Amino acid sequence: MPVWFNPSHTIDQALREVAALMPEFDPEFDPGVRPADPRFGDFQANGVLSFAKKHQVNPRELAQSLIDAAQASNHFDPNMVELSLAGPGFINFKLSTAFLWQWQLDYSTKADYQSGAMQLKSGRKVVIDYPSANTAKQAHIGHLRPMVIGQAIARILDFCGAELVRDNHIGDWGTNFGTLIMKIKRDEIDLNALNEDALATLDKLYKDGSALEKEQPDLRDISRKELVLLQNGDPDNTAIWEQIVKISKIAFEQLFDQIGVEVDITLGESFYRNKVDRIYEELTEIGLAEHSDGALVVWHDEVKKFSRENERPYPFNIRKSDGASNYASTDLATVLYRLEKFKAEEIIYLTDARQQDHFEQLFLTTNKWFKAKGYPLPEMQHVFWGSILGADKKPLKTKSGESIKLQELLDEARARAYEVVTKKNPEFPEQERKAIAESVGIGAVKYADLSSNRTQDYVFSWERLLSFEGNTAPYLLYAVARINSIFRKAEIDPSEPLIGASPIETEAELALARRLMGFVTALELTINDLRPHFLCTYLYELAGTYSSFYNADKVMVSDEAVKARRLILCARTRTVMQTGLELLGITALERM
Ligand code: ARG
Repeated sequence: MPVWFNPSHTIDQALREVAALMPEFDPEFDPGVRPADPRFGDFQANGVLSFAKKHQVNPRELAQSLIDAAQASNHFDPNMVELSLAGPGFINFKLSTAFLWQWQLDYSTKADYQSGAMQLKSGRKVVIDYPSANTAKQAHIGHLRPMVIGQAIARILDFCGAELVRDNHIGDWGTNFGTLIMKIKRDEIDLNALNEDALATLDKLYKDGSALEKEQPDLRDISRKELVLLQNGDPDNTAIWEQIVKISKIAFEQLFDQIGVEVDITLGESFYRNKVDRIYEELTEIGLAEHSDGALVVWHDEVKKFSRENERPYPFNIRKSDGASNYASTDLATVLYRLEKFKAEEIIYLTDARQQDHFEQLFLTTNKWFKAKGYPLPEMQHVFWGSILGADKKPLKTKSGESIKLQELLDEARARAYEVVTKKNPEFPEQERKAIAESVGIGAVKYADLSSNRTQDYVFSWERLLSFEGNTAPYLLYAVARINSIFRKAEIDPSEPLIGASPIETEAELALARRLMGFVTALELTINDLRPHFLCTYLYELAGTYSSFYNADKVMVSDEAVKARRLILCARTRTVMQTGLELLGITALERM
């Protein structure tokens, strides 16, 4: 029997090989294997139906001949998988108990599961652009999603074998520096003397500076001059700017540590400031960029959405009329750098939904430019999301209407989780309760963000996200802790192999075995769409299936062989749950 890590891929591949030897099929044939409605089987191939329609043959007959040929081949061991014809021309595949059991024995550790997952992205060079915040601004709740969604996607891609570069593309070259430097000089602020809250101070200086410019418009000219000085490399302004960037990085790194954000490199917008001339040249040379009112722009006339009625679509502005580079030019230079330096085959950008038009135009422009120049085009994707809402369904704010500071949100999560944990386990040592609160509190905030479909808004509710019921981090963490307690009481190490087990047979055991097999499929769905909620839903369902199994079938029975096989299922559930949570950036606990 072939060892099928990913049964749907294996079935798909085997059907292709069988069909290749049949005159009825041609190389265009796609078996279309996907998970099936569990009432009918584990997988279903529905590609015969469309193929038969296209070639005007009877789909049921064609499906039957493929089944016959498959069964005659050595690809489908009848003891492992049952094939049957269904509906207008589908083929159903039902994995046998023997198969499901063998699978549990073959795949036991995190590394075993990873060997299956690695097939999904093996060696693919991916650059993930996150969390890419702007400098000189204190992090607020709006910075939560890029960090949380980004770290989860990065971990999952890494687990699936991608060669990943986590590139923190910070916004460190904006026009805000003019105002900020003006205000810093005016108030004679010594940046070196700022304390822990240095970033909060900078944030305030900028706000005060802008307010001042409104009162005294002539200050705007001063700010503009400060910006030009900076752009031309003036040593004083450069020193101030460097200090601001440094303060910002330190403050963000503190948040990264708490949230589990990892970055490999930080190449901000400023890094590309000397790389934009090549962009202007190449885009002009191939006739893509044009001058328009002094600016350099790229038109995408074919895209109607960039236009108002009867008007030419608005262009992608790649150089401002004053000659300065902008967000578009640095992003174009960044794509080229990622291609040349990292040989990127895929680039994933994370920002909120408001930047959709920017990325659409960036991708269109890159497409045309790379094609004209003969550069290999990386696959580019924009991962965006909706807002975090309060109970009133409006973007979440503090009572006084300000944006919530990210650090305050994390501190509140810890404090609330500590209260919950202390109520539940007052006898645990204080230090352990603190550690549990860290994992539960931060984990709960992350999970709430990851478990909803990212393109939709979600309502933030402390009660819900810290609840031990429903699709929440505490529920999943508790499921793991319960399994741990079974092993603790039995004095068995869950990572040690268990011998003497009899094969699974009850409904509940089979249901759990099937669910465990679905882990890699859940990861595949997650990376195909870059939507972590698929993995969350899978883990939630696994916890539910486990709990039905636990309620239906006693684990610690006197029959040693039955006990061993049930303990094996418990150990597998623990491994998959722990691995899944880890990929979401949540630390599982021994007890809670
Ligand atoms: N700094 C930008 C912001 O905070 C996000 C940058 C995203 N990455 C990029 N390559 N444009 O909105």
